Amino acid sequence: MPGMRTQVGIVGAGPTGLMLSHLLHLRGIESVVLESRSRDHVEHRLRAGVLEQGSVDLLCRSGVGERLRREGLRHEGIELRFAGESHRVPMTDLTGRAITVYGQQEVVKDLIAARLAAGGSILFEADAVRLDGLDSDSPVVHFRRDGRDEELHCDFVAGCDGFHGVSRGAVPEGVLTTYERAYPFAWLGVLAAAAPAVDELIYANHERGFALYSMRSPEISRLYLQVAPDEDIAAWPDERIWTELRARLETVPGWSLNEGPILEKSITPMRSFVVEPMRWERLFLAGDAVHIVPPTGAKGMNLALADVALLGDAFAAWYDAGRTDLLDSYSATALRRVWRAQHFSWWMTSMLHRLERDDPYETKLQTATLRYVATSEAYARSLSENYVGLPEV
Ligand code: FAD
Ligand code: PHB
Repeated sequence: MPGMRTQVGIVGAGPTGLMLSHLLHLRGIESVVLESRSRDHVEHRLRAGVLEQGSVDLLCRSGVGERLRREGLRHEGIELRFAGESHRVPMTDLTGRAITVYGQQEVVKDLIAARLAAGGSILFEADAVRLDGLDSDSPVVHFRRDGRDEELHCDFVAGCDGFHGVSRGAVPEGVLTTYERAYPFAWLGVLAAAAPAVDELIYANHERGFALYSMRSPEISRLYLQVAPDEDIAAWPDERIWTELRARLETVPGWSLNEGPILEKSITPMRSFVVEPMRWERLFLAGDAVHIVPPTGAKGMNLALADVALLGDAFAAWYDAGRTDLLDSYSATALRRVWRAQHFSWWMTSMLHRLERDDPYETKLQTATLRYVATSEAYARSLSENYVGLPEV
């Protein structure tokens, strides 16, 4: 059976696996990334869009921020709409930090380009099927490529293969504890060829359900609607989407959306999910493979990047000096940030969505919470510091 060898075998070429491969390269550590989908597929998969200041700093510091600096949209506040009112949360005034709107697929494109330019190895359409020997000093990733079985031998495996990957399942039963929550709704997301009608994101709590106005560039809007968890995308022709967006977002006198052709639409289920610990023997799990947040707090990709920043340092300490301390503390350190983001994402989700039909008490609580954000500097600062990202947790 054909085999190859590397130092760190990485499963998954999402932002997590690619960033880890890039950070390892900067430390002189070799890796091979296995990705089940094609390059074109991963470069065009539409997902998150908000980078915390810490994520921007990490991308720029590590030499992959050139286009991000040029094309990323720096935002210093967000708007909350509810009960016919509109309030701006001045995040930068309150925290000194900002967020940057830059699509996840752009981060992925930049990282792939950087890895390939540096001679890095990313095997696309290589599907990891089984991990072996994780409790030995020579683990193996078995994968299929071009209809053939192949093996990747390595010192460590990084499971960066998202929620549906194989890595998490390689941990023996009884080792991992799962914490999760499902929500009774999903998000219908659309990308539209329409100039954003605003400079900042709008999060709207409306009796018909949550809506979010975001963007990707001065020409492209990104919009989301809360829908039923089992919603059929075929039931949402473009005109219905615009009608619903207008109903939920045009709640301020004199304000209207810009409409344009819908380029893409999809439905994303909402869940909160954490598996602990994030390491077993020589397998290190990172990103969506070990934790998922509902996207309301815009934390998914940021958490993934924070995980691999820790892992990069931990592998470097091991290869440079034989130190195991950072590998040993990886899970506990990463989980502190993960749980802060879990709480924030759950809190934003609960404050902004229609949770149960006909629960007027819940609605009153949401309005009270939103008014408190709008009127209390302390509460607005708490939201802001979580949203822009806490340097220390
Ligand atoms: P992924 O991006 O999922 O990458 C994992 C990679 O592993 C994939 O490329 C996959 O093809 C590959 N893979 C899986 N199994 C195997 C295998 N067996 N062998 C080889 N490769 C494998 N966050 C937000 O903040 N805002 C959003 O709007 C938002 N929308 C989202 C929409 C969807 C549909 C999803 C799934 C997530 C969304 N997120 C959003 C979350 C955010 O995009 C993720 O947190 C982020 O993608 C995590 O990156 P990752 O690299 O860990 O996982
Ligand atoms: C996005 O632009 O895709 C986006 C923005 C903010 C969120 C989620 C998604 O909370």
